[in-house]
Amino acid sequence: MSQTCIYLDYAATTPVDENVISIMAQHMGFTGKFGNPASSSHEFGQSAKLAVEYARTQVAQLIGAQPAQIVWTSGATESNNLAIKGVLEHFFQTHPGKSAHIVSSPLEHKAVLDTLHYAEALGATITWVQPDSTGAITLEAVRNALHEDTLLVTLMLVNNEIGSITDVAAIAAAVRAQGALMHVDAAQATGKVEIDVGTWAVDMLSLSAHKTYGPKGVGALYVGERAAPLMQAQIHGGGHERGLRSGTLATHQIVGMGSAFAIAGQKLEIETSRMQNLRAAFLHELEGIPGITLNAAQTQTVPNTLSLTIADSSFEPAYLNGRMAISTTSACNSASNKPSHVLTGIGLSPEQAARTLRISFGRYTSEEDAVNAAKALRETLDALREM
Ligand SMILES: Cc1ncc(COP(=O)(O)O)c(C=O)c1O
Repeated sequence: MSQTCIYLDYAATTPVDENVISIMAQHMGFTGKFGNPASSSHEFGQSAKLAVEYARTQVAQLIGAQPAQIVWTSGATESNNLAIKGVLEHFFQTHPGKSAHIVSSPLEHKAVLDTLHYAEALGATITWVQPDSTGAITLEAVRNALHEDTLLVTLMLVNNEIGSITDVAAIAAAVRAQGALMHVDAAQATGKVEIDVGTWAVDMLSLSAHKTYGPKGVGALYVGERAAPLMQAQIHGGGHERGLRSGTLATHQIVGMGSAFAIAGQKLEIETSRMQNLRAAFLHELEGIPGITLNAAQTQTVPNTLSLTIADSSFEPAYLNGRMAISTTSACNSASNKPSHVLTGIGLSPEQAARTLRISFGRYTSEEDAVNAAKALRETLDALREM
């Protein structure tokens, strides 16, 4: 990999923290805790089980949950599927012939949007709450979308493309007052904002390890006491995880997620202030360059994620290739090659969306990296103007 290419795509994925790697390595080989956590009859299984349960407390702690409320999954995509399909299927099974109403927003990740389209095909009705002019999903807009018989509201805490933060705590209170369940996709939020399902009226919350310096392929769903009896498992085969998600637990992945989340909790404040400094240094370096718009600038965002639209129609994000690794859209949308639904959802044209850069800083970004990235962008735009 080129040493001069600056990695600024932490919203797509993060490298695994070296401490996390060493803990994971202790849970794989014969001299480590490799046993099946479900093998309760011998100490190999028992020690693996202890490690899994310790990781469960670490994940629970970061979000203010009880350990027993954490269900291990393969990532936030699966967690979102379990939350939405699990509640919907249970509802259809227990209320045959009744219609199900779900509220969400068009700015959600594909892991929610595609699951909701599937839910629609199964007979659910979806109300899509539109963002306001700043790109925010407001309490008032969600309130207006709620019906007396709304089953579920599903919204993300931090948007993966523009970094906007939704006030899910306030929204969840209104949703609970209405009698519906609230699911939150928090894949982009861990280690960046405080999460407290202990006081929020949130019933389910999706988590992913690889956005927070843990390994890929592992995640969790917080399932609160209200939601647990109202969910149908999506993976059957042994009744693991309170009957909600069967399958042998991936001990090394799980301990990796646990230790990554413990580190995220310890570093939350310091990393937030470091990200604010990086953002300020980056934006300072861009000052005075005409034709750059910071999207979602009027709403609350996490400091590490910036979405910039370049006005110059001759600009192509590919001009930055080799100098910085960034996204023009979320990693998932890149696969479909369509304009980002989030950017068009906040009012950008498909052409503007194609000239939009997502720059996301992280734990290994230095101030020099942030400044050099801004300089590279400035030089690219200067060269285009001169042509
Ligand atoms: C907001 C959001 N939700 C869900 C996901 C999917 O997470 P995972 O990769 O763990 O399946 C992502 C990852 O891009 C995301 O950003």
